[in-house]
Amino acid sequence: MKPLSLRAFFSIVAIALLLSFTSSSAHTHEKFIQCLHNYPHINSSSTTSISNSNVVHTQTDSSYTSTLNFSIQNLRFENTSLKPLVIVTPHQVSHIQATILCSQRHGLQIRTRSGGHDYEGLSYVSEVPFVVIDLINLRQIEVDEKNRTAWVQSGATIGELYYRISEKSKTLGFPAGVCPTVGIGGHFSGGGYGFLMRKYGLAADNVIDAHIIDVNGKLLDRESMGEDLFWAIRGGGGASFGVIVDWKVKLVSVPSTVTVFRVPRTLEQNATKIIHKWQLVANKLDKNLTVRINMNRVNSSKGGLTIQATFESMFLGGVEQLIPLMEENFPELGLVREDCTEMSWIESVLYIAGFTNGQTPEVLLNRTQSNVLFFKAKSDYVREPIPEVGLEGLWPLFYEDEAEAALVQFTPYGGKMDEISESEIPFPHRSGYMFHIQHLVYWEEKGEEVAQRHIKWIRKLFRYVEPYVSKSPRAAYINYRDLDIGVNNNKGYTSYRQASIWGLKYFNNNFHRLAKVKTMVDPLNFFRNEQSIPSLVSKGRK
Ligand SMILES: Cc1cc2nc3c(=O)[nH]c(=O)nc-3n(C[C@H](O)[C@H](O)[C@H](O)COP(=O)(O)OP(=O)(O)OC[C@H]3O[C@@H](n4cnc5c(N)ncnc54)[C@H](O)[C@@H]3O)c2cc1C
Ligand SMILES: *[C@@H]1O[C@H](CO)[C@@H](O)[C@H](O)[C@H]1NC(C)=O
Ligand SMILES: *[C@@H]1O[C@H](CO)[C@@H](O)[C@H](O)[C@H]1NC(C)=O
Ligand SMILES: *[C@@H]1O[C@H](CO)[C@@H](O)[C@H](O)[C@H]1NC(C)=O
Ligand SMILES: *[C@@H]1O[C@H](CO)[C@@H](O)[C@H](O)[C@H]1NC(C)=O
Ligand SMILES: *[C@@H]1O[C@H](CO)[C@@H](O)[C@H](O)[C@H]1NC(C)=O
Ligand SMILES: *[C@@H]1O[C@H](CO)[C@@H](O)[C@H](O)[C@H]1NC(C)=O
Ligand SMILES: *[C@@H]1O[C@H](CO)[C@@H](O)[C@H](O)[C@H]1NC(C)=O
Ligand SMILES: *[C@@H]1O[C@H](CO)[C@@H](O)[C@H](O)[C@H]1NC(C)=O
Repeated sequence: MKPLSLRAFFSIVAIALLLSFTSSSAHTHEKFIQCLHNYPHINSSSTTSISNSNVVHTQTDSSYTSTLNFSIQNLRFENTSLKPLVIVTPHQVSHIQATILCSQRHGLQIRTRSGGHDYEGLSYVSEVPFVVIDLINLRQIEVDEKNRTAWVQSGATIGELYYRISEKSKTLGFPAGVCPTVGIGGHFSGGGYGFLMRKYGLAADNVIDAHIIDVNGKLLDRESMGEDLFWAIRGGGGASFGVIVDWKVKLVSVPSTVTVFRVPRTLEQNATKIIHKWQLVANKLDKNLTVRINMNRVNSSKGGLTIQATFESMFLGGVEQLIPLMEENFPELGLVREDCTEMSWIESVLYIAGFTNGQTPEVLLNRTQSNVLFFKAKSDYVREPIPEVGLEGLWPLFYEDEAEAALVQFTPYGGKMDEISESEIPFPHRSGYMFHIQHLVYWEEKGEEVAQRHIKWIRKLFRYVEPYVSKSPRAAYINYRDLDIGVNNNKGYTSYRQASIWGLKYFNNNFHRLAKVKTMVDPLNFFRNEQSIPSLVSKGRK
């Protein structure tokens, strides 16, 4: 018999390893499902049995693909091979408790998904064998307009929350994000901001109670979880600490009439100078007024390409008050009454979200985003105005092929953000930051090469702006998750020092306290992902 060539030998070993992995993971997932069904606590307390075909979805179930795909909000992660062995769509707390306990017993990781907007797909993609807990069925909202509070389950969207508030009152609102399909679970646990931030802060600043299920399967409220854990889940990212079931929030006052405008200015219309001036005033304006800027490339009316800066605004008051405020503080924009529209707060939510064709507020209940594309994003914070020459150097990057659908967005801070201390919740970017930048690039074409070209472009943009943005750390926003800024070890122990590379950017001085809370509530690091808070227990679990 001829000896095996080295190459043939290795292929046989590889096939054997592959077979053993496949069969052992198939085995694991059967045992995991058996565990779910056998869980005594679940059987006794169930009103919907976990054996119900609508709760557990395995890869061979016809519901698996549609359930997984439904909340994928970035096509970069649509056809990944790194799919969950099982998806659990709980109808009640006990289903989550069973999933947490059985996953640990059978060596599976958990990814929790609320709205699926994670920019890097961390709520449904993982390199190690895992289960997705998808909270799509946990989306009750109870608005108590008299007490000006609401309980909202994590699987609801911010659009659903806005809608339910507006059903009860025209003068109550909530300060969260712009895109209505964003999920409560990820959004609140990472901060959450929109056009009410300058007046009322972040969504997380307005959370007053919550229920979380911890690594032991225990359901805890604010009192039983304690103030450290309650602090951590308001901005520290929920995924490191457990599964948050619901949140109690304070509602805020909004006037019955607000005013919106969207005013475009191209380079030929002095956009650069106007943007420069905006930097000097935007974070100092009346708290009732937020003016943000979206910058992208457009076709010039004279042929060729130009840059357009769109000044997008919501003012908590009528146009009569707005015009003098703008004339006094920001005359360079040249805002006129015809640019402005008065409406109710809920109508402004639709306007800002881009529903400007007479849609009714019911569109806020639609969980399907209208134009899901491929995208990559990054974020920055700015402490000092970017000089005009810095802005001028940015424009040529927009003329490159990859930037056809690129967007740079400036969002002003100041107002309430300056009044909240850096350590009040884990989100640290408060006074001293003038505005926030989001860099985004979208594309529509499939394929890895196309993706890499666009990602390369946005990394180049990110290098370009470095001299003009915050340093040591170069601050970033966890809800605009970016794995380029640092990751944990996928399969092994991650030291505090290694995690600090990304952790200080998101959390600055709050990162250490987050690690202490993590060590207290999940010392063996069961709840983990590429950017989860590390446990300080030496070595943790593998
Ligand atoms: C189109 C679009 C528009 C956006 N607009 C805004 C905006 O205006 N303002 C803003 O601040 N942000 C905005 N974001 C960012 C958004 O806030 C974050 O992506 C947020 O984390 C999404 O929450 P999610 O529940 O939809 O995401 P998911 O992908 O479900 O979750 C995000 C992270 O949170 C974890 N998580 C989710 N639910 C839970 C839970 N119940 N318990 C524990 N951990 C949980 C996940 O495991 C994951 O790590 C936008 C994102 C997109 C895609
Ligand atoms: C739980 O219920 C399942 C199916 O209803 C059953 O097969 C199992 O024996 C029960 N387990 C216990 C511990 O009661
Ligand atoms: C998944 O959802 C996207 C929209 O989010 C859709 O374009 C796509 O066709 C769906 N894919 C599958 C396989 O269902
Ligand atoms: C993913 O696969 C489905 C089914 O093969 C296909 O219809 C879809 O276009 C693919 N999406 C991407 C982004 O490649
Ligand atoms: C307001 O809250 C109090 C105390 O939590 C509660 O007793 C009361 O019933 C609530 N009011 C309404 C109108 O529900
Ligand atoms: C741009 O600025 C110049 C000089 O400041 C001014 O003369 C011109 O009218 C401005 N253009 C527009 C369209 O506002
Ligand atoms: C904002 O609007 C409210 C209500 O109309 C008003 O009382 C207040 O003076 C305005 N300005 C500031 C800075 O809050
Ligand atoms: C801009 O011009 C290009 C080339 O002429 C064209 O393909 C594209 O559709 C135009 N874009 C818009 C938004 O009009
Ligand atoms: C929800 O929105 C999507 C995307 O815009 C659309 O295709 C769909 O028809 C809408 N569904 C309903 C029920 O309106």
